[in-house]
Amino acid sequence: MIHFSLFSSLQPTGGHNETSGPRLILLPPRKMINKSRGKILGVLALFLVVVWYAIYREDGYTQLFYFPAQENKTTCPLGEVEKKAVQLIANYSREQPLFLQLKDYFWVKTPSLYELPYGTKGSEDVLLRLLSITHYSVPESIQRLKCRRCAVVGNGHRLRNSSMGETIDAYDIVIRLNNAPVHGYEQDVGSKTTMRLFYPESAHFNPRRENNPETLLVLVPFKPADFQWLEAILNDKKRVRKGFWKQPPLIWDADPQRVRVLNPYFMEVTAAKLLNLPMKQPRKVKQKPTTGLLAITLALHLCDLVHIAGFGYPDLANKKQTIHYYEQITLKSMAASEHNVSHEAMAIKRMLELGLLKNLTYF
Ligand SMILES: *[C@@H]1O[C@H](CO)[C@@H](O)[C@H](O)[C@H]1NC(C)=O
Ligand SMILES: *[C@@H]1O[C@H](CO)[C@@H](O)[C@H](O)[C@H]1NC(C)=O
Ligand SMILES: *[C@@H]1O[C@H](CO)[C@@H](O)[C@H](O)[C@H]1NC(C)=O
Ligand SMILES: *[C@@H]1O[C@H](CO)[C@@H](O)[C@H](O)[C@H]1NC(C)=O
Ligand SMILES: *[C@@H]1O[C@H](CO)[C@@H](O)[C@H](O)[C@H]1NC(C)=O
Repeated sequence: MIHFSLFSSLQPTGGHNETSGPRLILLPPRKMINKSRGKILGVLALFLVVVWYAIYREDGYTQLFYFPAQENKTTCPLGEVEKKAVQLIANYSREQPLFLQLKDYFWVKTPSLYELPYGTKGSEDVLLRLLSITHYSVPESIQRLKCRRCAVVGNGHRLRNSSMGETIDAYDIVIRLNNAPVHGYEQDVGSKTTMRLFYPESAHFNPRRENNPETLLVLVPFKPADFQWLEAILNDKKRVRKGFWKQPPLIWDADPQRVRVLNPYFMEVTAAKLLNLPMKQPRKVKQKPTTGLLAITLALHLCDLVHIAGFGYPDLANKKQTIHYYEQITLKSMAASEHNVSHEAMAIKRMLELGLLKNLTYF
């Protein structure tokens, strides 16, 4: 609308009103055009810049011109996560697909540099079977969001009695982890779940109960058996029982259309760039990122704003303090795990300091 008015105010050629018109109109047409050519070109250039900018921002003219009235900076800091992530994550790029796609294992076998959990080398055949029954698309409901405000909800005890439920549910995208329940904890953790990241040992035996019908169930593959477990369940084949550190569910009633397989790229970025772990570790010291830190990495590649709640563990000295909001286990149970929680805490602190994340509960 603004550009139209700019043009009409500069349309002197058709002017017949010699008494009230500006001096411009009294000039002979050719000379007048010469004189105003610069102006017209200037306005044209301005117009093109405005159009380009509006298209570039991909949200049309309205957002651009109505911006001061309806939107404010706190509602959507577009592009800020990317700008800050580049400082921390070398070669940061949003080009990578979130989920593994059948076409990469079917038409062309895309070679992967690493084996699981950092790549898919050696798992191509089982992936071909698995990806032919699951999906890889990012749902329309996420794609059409103008602003992706995300909450990553950790399972930490700090959520207990936090009354954060309503705050969490107000985010556009809520990412939850593993078998964390929402039933009976709505007041503190909310009930909306856009995506849930899990692996077989951490899968809730009843995925329908603790998720919404449209929740994406995102498998985080750590080892080839994880693909085999999911494929056996969805195709109702003989269950795989070997190769797990804890018995995963034998019955898991999920809609294959809502199941996704996370691109191991995000595990690689988390390990190599956020934790500075070597990609090739000696057999004895296997250190891996937790699903929680992985979820933060994923959010940094997907969202315009990333807030975290329920992250953090009690002090190492506090041996009695439970670590989760929903079950009575203590830090002792983490001792044998392949995670280094103090190392991860340092990485999260750095991201908070950079302003890449904001904490909704004490961290
Ligand atoms: C910006 O938007 C938020 C959320 O809608 C609102 O709480 C806040 O008051 C707004 N700030 C200004 C300066 O309008
Ligand atoms: C970034 O990408 C370039 C080109 O792909 C590569 O040579 C370089 O090693 C990468 N840097 C890091 C830190 O991964
Ligand atoms: C949470 O609140 C309940 C009831 O007010 C109380 O009994 C319980 O001790 C509180 N739990 C924690 C961890 O603060
Ligand atoms: C865990 O991380 C901390 C901090 O980076 C480090 O000092 C410690 O050696 C690590 N522990 C193990 C078992 O690698
Ligand atoms: C975030 O964590 C810091 C400690 O690192 C704490 O001081 C602050 O209160 C926390 N913010 C919220 C909203 O709880």
